[in-house]
Amino acid sequence: MSFRTLDDLGDVHGKRVLVREDLNVPMQDGHVTDDTRLRATLPTVTELADKGAIVLVLAHFGRPKAPTPDFSLSRVVRAYENVLGREVRYVDWEGAAENVAMLQPGDVAVLENTRFFGGEEKNDPAVVERFARLGDIYVNDAFSAAHRAHASTEGLARVLPAYAGRAMQAELEALEKALGNPERPVAAVVGGAKVSTKLDVLKNLVGKVNHLIIGGGMANTFLAARGVNVGKSLAEHDLRDTALEILDAADRANCTVHLPYDVVVAKEFAANPPSLRTCNVHEVAADEMILDVGPAAVEALADAIKNCRTLVWNGPLGAFETPPFDSATVALARTAAALTEEGSLVSVAGGGDTVAALNHAGVADDFTFVSTAGGAFLEWMEGKELPGVKALEA
Ligand code: 3PG
Ligand code: MG
Repeated sequence: MSFRTLDDLGDVHGKRVLVREDLNVPMQDGHVTDDTRLRATLPTVTELADKGAIVLVLAHFGRPKAPTPDFSLSRVVRAYENVLGREVRYVDWEGAAENVAMLQPGDVAVLENTRFFGGEEKNDPAVVERFARLGDIYVNDAFSAAHRAHASTEGLARVLPAYAGRAMQAELEALEKALGNPERPVAAVVGGAKVSTKLDVLKNLVGKVNHLIIGGGMANTFLAARGVNVGKSLAEHDLRDTALEILDAADRANCTVHLPYDVVVAKEFAANPPSLRTCNVHEVAADEMILDVGPAAVEALADAIKNCRTLVWNGPLGAFETPPFDSATVALARTAAALTEEGSLVSVAGGGDTVAALNHAGVADDFTFVSTAGGAFLEWMEGKELPGVKALEA
């Protein structure tokens, strides 16, 4: 993996730098409810502005079918100013060239939603050209949008001198350390509800990691495939053959697959239900469902990762939003965090639910790296080349 970074940029004073960021933040009643992605842009935008560049932030917002005020990036500008601690101008597409021409070295502006052009998502050369005319240099800092081959994420890298921003660089370096060229042994935790959404992730990982820890509803599908009675647990019984193939492939690759041997079950899915109990995985009753990995299994998982040097985490082990089914996720996350602090483990996590789970466990800051990406992180775990990254490497 090789790409140019801001270190390779010469003098940028007075240069117009188009910086692709991911400003796709959640909003409620006009307020940004989570500014993590805004904060992630801080190093790149600050560095460029401090060097006297004219910083033109390019980003999408939501999935608009047509340009409407609801999807205008002007709605994010105030929150963005607070995060950056500097003035941020908003530039509409109407008259953009004239307004950009009036900006001064050190100014930061957010251009309107890239998806207001139908051709953005089609990577239409005319839209690429329209963006490119506004800038001299292109910096892609939006790893979380790099799985899209859009004009602002891919096309621009082909027509302007292209560089990875600091957040993109940090993501790529962390991901390289985690799966590209990791210190071994490597463990991966893959959890979440459905095997069907992570088939390609599992298939890719069995050939790359030494330990594959499967949790969440996904584990039930594997247990059921192996003939375990999982009662009325969430499980994809039609994926039996696929699950067995994955287990087979893991075997051939010397990858140890960890499925829970004790589990937390209940007759109904609710917080602290009266029917709650912990049992051996072979003792689940027909009217019970598995909602979390059991304590003995969690201890075994902790032992397994103690012997590892690298951990990649995607997806919770149990139904972590409902207590006490957060126990396994919290316990293993804390073990990983402690090992990371001791310096014996490189821990990298990503995916929407995963970040929420690590925040819930109070350890998101203690992992080596937590990705801001959802879909892009998954595609990377699938071993796919991300178009936005590939274009930077070219
Ligand atoms: C995200 O929110 O995952 C990224 O910003 C990409 O958005 P998209 O899934 O609408 O392309
Ligand atoms: Mg998405």
